[in-house]
Amino acid sequence: MAQQDTRRFLKAATALVAGLVLAACGKQEPPPAPAETASAPASAPAPAPAKVYTVGTDAAYAPFEFQNEKGEIVGLSVDLLNAVAEKGGFQVKFVNTPWEGIFNALGQGDRDLLISSITITDERKQTMDFSDPYFDAFQLIAVKESSKISKFDDLKKLKVGVQTGTTGDEVVTKLQGKTATTIKRFESTPLALKELEAGGVDAVVADNGVVIHYVANNPGAKFKTVSDKAFAPEQYGIAVKKGNTELLGMINKGLAAVKADGTYAAIYKKTFGTEPPAAAAPAASAASN
Ligand code: ARG
Repeated sequence: MAQQDTRRFLKAATALVAGLVLAACGKQEPPPAPAETASAPASAPAPAPAKVYTVGTDAAYAPFEFQNEKGEIVGLSVDLLNAVAEKGGFQVKFVNTPWEGIFNALGQGDRDLLISSITITDERKQTMDFSDPYFDAFQLIAVKESSKISKFDDLKKLKVGVQTGTTGDEVVTKLQGKTATTIKRFESTPLALKELEAGGVDAVVADNGVVIHYVANNPGAKFKTVSDKAFAPEQYGIAVKKGNTELLGMINKGLAAVKADGTYAAIYKKTFGTEPPAAAAPAASAASN
């Protein structure tokens, strides 16, 4: 201990003497330019690191948010938010968060924002704020290849699997009634689809992108999809705690930038292999009809 202190003292003293000698000889570096003088000397404590925003996502929703073989959270949502954060000038860290607790986690401040293929709905808007929409979606029915189901109404009395608290749950609850015992609610959409494969339900209703991805990647399940015009169009948004206008502003700024500079289109193409559909402008097209 004492020896170390001595050594440290000697080191410092040597440096000091060397500095004085150099100064006396007029050989020191020229004084830094005024601009540099203003910045903190190397020995000062580093500035506080920028805040890293915690992102909640239910990573069981390929191809939007899911875990790869290494357990990393990946998918369109991750690529998109990383790009948005870069353009918006903030930092993010993803935390896998079960869907059922995801909105509470935001409300309680355990997560700063959510990107989880969340449909913007009027009901949700009462308890959280949403970014501008970043993805168009709709509900899609998955059934066995041999099924006779051809439209949503056919599901009225059948056993239907949904992910609890999703818009799929909402539409099926509306069709069958709140007290229906034939709605089977699951913690995740893949679990509902597994149950369809096992024959425990007659159909699953969930977001089109996830259903299509699952059917394409699980040919052994022998599923087909059934679409129905009765389903209302949905749009995904990034959610922040109600009133967090500062973060929302940075998100929307980043989102606009990635949409404008082709980054969004590149991420879409990486995920789906096709160009994104032409920017939907529902309000404008409705007005022109
Ligand atoms: N879009 C649907 C909704 O907002 C389902 C989203 C589920 N997302 C997820 N990562 N599990 O209700």
